[in-house]
Amino acid sequence: MSVRLIGITKEFQDPEREGGKLLAVRDFNLEIGEGEFVTLLGPSGCGKTTTLRMVAGFEMPTSGEVWIGGRNVSNDPPNKRDTSMVFQSYAIFPHMSVEQNVGFGLELKGRPREEINREVKQIMEVMGIAELAHRRPDQLSGGQQQRVALARAIVNKPSVLLFDEPLSNLDAKLREQMRLEIRRIQQSFRITSVYVTHDQAEAMTVSDRIVVMNRGRMMQVGTPFEIYSRPANRFVADFIGRVNLLPVRVERLAEENNLVRGEDGSTFQAVSAAPGVREGGQALLMVRPESLSVSGAEGDAASDTGKLVFARGVIDKTVYLGATVEYEIDAGLGKPLLAVSHDPVDAGFWRTGDRVTLRYSPRAAHLLPVDSD
Ligand SMILES: Nc1ncnc2c1ncn2[C@@H]1O[C@H](COP(=O)(O)OP(=O)(O)OP(=O)(O)O)[C@@H](O)[C@H]1O
Ligand SMILES: [Mg+2]
Repeated sequence: MSVRLIGITKEFQDPEREGGKLLAVRDFNLEIGEGEFVTLLGPSGCGKTTTLRMVAGFEMPTSGEVWIGGRNVSNDPPNKRDTSMVFQSYAIFPHMSVEQNVGFGLELKGRPREEINREVKQIMEVMGIAELAHRRPDQLSGGQQQRVALARAIVNKPSVLLFDEPLSNLDAKLREQMRLEIRRIQQSFRITSVYVTHDQAEAMTVSDRIVVMNRGRMMQVGTPFEIYSRPANRFVADFIGRVNLLPVRVERLAEENNLVRGEDGSTFQAVSAAPGVREGGQALLMVRPESLSVSGAEGDAASDTGKLVFARGVIDKTVYLGATVEYEIDAGLGKPLLAVSHDPVDAGFWRTGDRVTLRYSPRAAHLLPVDSD
């Protein structure tokens, strides 16, 4: 089912100040389509959990409305909303077997025994935990426990699945595996899902769309590509990865053909500009490190055809990571530029002190407004 959040705001009593107010979520508007997977992403304390709890009905908005499937549920308690929540701590019952845990919700609803057995068996197979049916939670690994928690949430076939950092207790490797699994299962059941995380890679992997939040406010909503490559402002650009930002003046603002001038007078082209960037005004030119190619001070590398010069400088630091090499380049800008180059076995790599030229493609260059949050 679809979910609509209309201008929801949540004000708490500030525990630090007598009579003080704390705005945890401010005027939040979002429409989530049927079967869509949307992630709320942002730093600690930005209001992700509070927003999710308002969808579930564990928290009532101070103002605004929550709609699920075309119905205003703002005043409904959680059990009338047909949502299911998966938490960070798995909250599975320690004294019950895997099978009993998974079937618990259906038992509560008083479904016939054969139906429960059939549904539980099916979901355990999908989740790859069928062989564990008779084990107790303390006989399972963290990843297996999280699968049980997921199976238990999905078996009820809720209209909306809510996830609050469900993978943060798992180690890095398992986390990566489980996020692919969550995506796969959500796709096969097409359950509308709202997922909360502060891990940007996790958000990129699982989501149809990402909502980036900061201090209770929505900063941007878009596909993973839009959020990463066409951020709305500096906060989003920084939060979702590493960036090179140059202060520039906007000479020409034209569809896919923006022209800007740096402080030293050099010109740059950029295909895209965020809302709020004005012709004649100041802006920030953004290029991600992997979009800067590094070549020698002299001749062009063959792969650089069609690219423009971004800057020239000296390699300050080289970090070899196997699959990639990361460079910090001193281009006399006060702050080093970052470049990441792939496949170093083929391309070779540069050493501290080498003079290099950095090139970019206008397709990878994006303009941000200066005065953003
Ligand atoms: N019951 C409460 N009373 C007072 N303040 C609260 C309450 N619950 C949350 N807050 C505050 O509201 C803000 C948002 O909290 P929330 O739990 O939604 O953040 P979050 O984005 O989920 O953070 P995290 O990533 O750390 O889980 C925080 O400043 C928090 O301290
Ligand atoms: Mg939280």
